[in-house]
Amino acid sequence: METIRFDVLTLFPRMFESPLSESILQKARNREQVKVIVHNIRDFAHGRHRVVDDTPYGGGGGMVMKPEPVVRAIESIKKNHPSARVILMTPQGSLLDDSHVCRLVQYPHLVLMCGRYEGVDERVRLGFVDEEISIGDYVLTGGELAAMVVIDAVSRQLDGFLGNESAARDDSFSEGLLEYPQYTKPRNFRGLRVPEILISGNHKEIRRWRRKESIRKTWLRRPDLLKKSKLSAEDCKTLDEIEREGRLCKGMA
Ligand code: ADE
Repeated sequence: METIRFDVLTLFPRMFESPLSESILQKARNREQVKVIVHNIRDFAHGRHRVVDDTPYGGGGGMVMKPEPVVRAIESIKKNHPSARVILMTPQGSLLDDSHVCRLVQYPHLVLMCGRYEGVDERVRLGFVDEEISIGDYVLTGGELAAMVVIDAVSRQLDGFLGNESAARDDSFSEGLLEYPQYTKPRNFRGLRVPEILISGNHKEIRRWRRKESIRKTWLRRPDLLKKSKLSAEDCKTLDEIEREGRLCKGMA
């Protein structure tokens, strides 16, 4: 069984309780395919008040996370697991995408450091972090939600995580394309019918239809992805067809 371990460093460990204890992720944790160990950075702060932040040198508002507790927390894990990869969650990191997720799942042990306040002392980043990840061009109140996104997206790439082996591979982005539309019962919902082809039992035609709708959706919504995806000669013909159909629709409008 392919497994992974995440050690999360945070000032708010309780944030991780319920999101990681539901559904398929909890099942993977029960069978120890995914281990998540959450550490409170405050436990690594010294002194009566266990101070974890301070005002920034040079002035300005807000608070900066002090380097000592964060580095002690990292070192407490590295002591027994020197090859664990340390990741800082920050809006300044490289943007997480599918290829990034597929690279991360190759590491058996990730340490996710969640920043808070105005950020983390730069010396943590310089000396104790292997990479920095952002989950999007917006600023969250801290790295916790971003770490949960990484845990979720990376875990579901593990072999056997989804039960159905093919599921992760068929998803949106697995081949650089968005997913085809899915339907379930009833056949007729308030006058909206399931496309006949999906009920035909003709699996070859169903596969072709799905591929075409996947390309169509990507063409309409994410042409940037289409440029990067590896389309076969057959796919290119399908794309021509879609473009022609698109022009016809515009002509009719
Ligand atoms: N911390 C705050 N905002 C973030 C983001 N967009 N990605 C990762 N960590 C963050």
